[in-house]
Amino acid sequence: MDRIRIIGGNPLNGTIPISGAKNAALPLMIAGLLTPETLILDNVPRLADVAQLQRILGNHGVDITAVGKRVGDGKYQGQTLQISAADIIDTTAPYELVSRMRASFWVIAPLLARMHAAKVSLPGGCAIGTRPVDLLIMALEKLGAEIAIDGGYVVAKAHGGLRGGHIDFPKVTVGGTHVALMAATLAKGTTLITNAACEPEVSDLAECLIKMGARITGAGTARIEVEGIDRLHGARHTVLPDRIEAGTYAIATAMTGGDVQLEGARAELLQSALDVLKEAGAEISVNADGIRVRRNGNGIRPVQVATAPFPGFPTDLQAQLMALMVRAQGSSAITETIFENRFMHVQELARFGARISLDGETARIEGISTLRGAPVMATDLRASVSLVIAGLAAEGETMVNRVYHLDRGFERLEEKLKACGAAIERISD
Ligand code: UD1
Repeated sequence: MDRIRIIGGNPLNGTIPISGAKNAALPLMIAGLLTPETLILDNVPRLADVAQLQRILGNHGVDITAVGKRVGDGKYQGQTLQISAADIIDTTAPYELVSRMRASFWVIAPLLARMHAAKVSLPGGCAIGTRPVDLLIMALEKLGAEIAIDGGYVVAKAHGGLRGGHIDFPKVTVGGTHVALMAATLAKGTTLITNAACEPEVSDLAECLIKMGARITGAGTARIEVEGIDRLHGARHTVLPDRIEAGTYAIATAMTGGDVQLEGARAELLQSALDVLKEAGAEISVNADGIRVRRNGNGIRPVQVATAPFPGFPTDLQAQLMALMVRAQGSSAITETIFENRFMHVQELARFGARISLDGETARIEGISTLRGAPVMATDLRASVSLVIAGLAAEGETMVNRVYHLDRGFERLEEKLKACGAAIERISD
């Protein structure tokens, strides 16, 4: 099992190219199930989760071709995937495939919309809280699906096809909104989705669906309307840049000090995180090629932050911000409002000497001036990268174990950091 070894203390200086967003690429690939024609996706990141979803879609009979590099493509250019679901040969998504990644459950929506039947295993994914799928099921039922749970599987049927309806989410859910959107595109009549998630990845999915012929208005707001049509066609779409990856490297730069250009990052996708970083003492400027982050000389100031749905501070940057606050000059507080139990990084950060106490949903962090490197264990995707951030600033050696969590969501992490001066390497045993 691979490990990552870091010798901390080097500032980061240079350019980091930002990859396509994992959380946009996954629903976009799943949307390929909605049409018998070819969907071409550009800028798809090379990640373990993407490869796993390719296997899942392949099991339904989807043909996926990764197009090779074209002349002029840079080293970090994402891949182009041609997704063709001409014939869906199987509407079951088995436990062995779905249990490893929560987002794969979302295949239930296009399968039901196009084939009027789906049998999908209840999902797995990161161990952060209970993460149920009740709201996704509710959304499909509002569109006329009959749903039963049998042997760990969600069995869904829509005799005669889905029908438009009003889906009012009692809680903002990104996955629920993706599922509702995809299902509604091929339903008979109009669907109204209220209290929809406003995350940029939802807008990206909607934009692609519109290119495929879907009639959608209001994506990116809490009120989305979808007028169902009989058939969607092929399209070509570029995955938007990963705001969580950009935010992670911005935090890493604030942590170590230095000057890094985040190439291809879009500030409007992570404004709340950039505002928090400014408050913490980083200098942020936006230019034509992306975002520039600097921290030279001044110390890290403590902040009080609560995670929230977009445009609030993202839960997927909570662990990284906590690593930064470990070095702040004073006490800070971070409240997690999206997921219960998303504090597994706290005990691992303690191994660097961090002083963090938990009080319900709030972590209180007493800043310390020097972190010491340690062997640590990655627990989930975002938590594991917070350990890398701590390691980059810690004295001596840090060994991050179980890095397969990182490979699920960060493309060429060690290469990107190394190019900016970090002493980091992957050790494959
Ligand atoms: C997506 C992201 C994940 C991010 C999260 C919140 C992907 C692949 N994953 O996950 O990285 O952290 O959004 O921004 O895009 N909930 C229910 N019932 C449901 C569904 C959700 O109670 O049926 C709850 C969840 O437990 C959680 C909250 O709603 O407390 C938000 O979850 P949701 O937005 O659905 O997260 P995901 O779509 O799984």
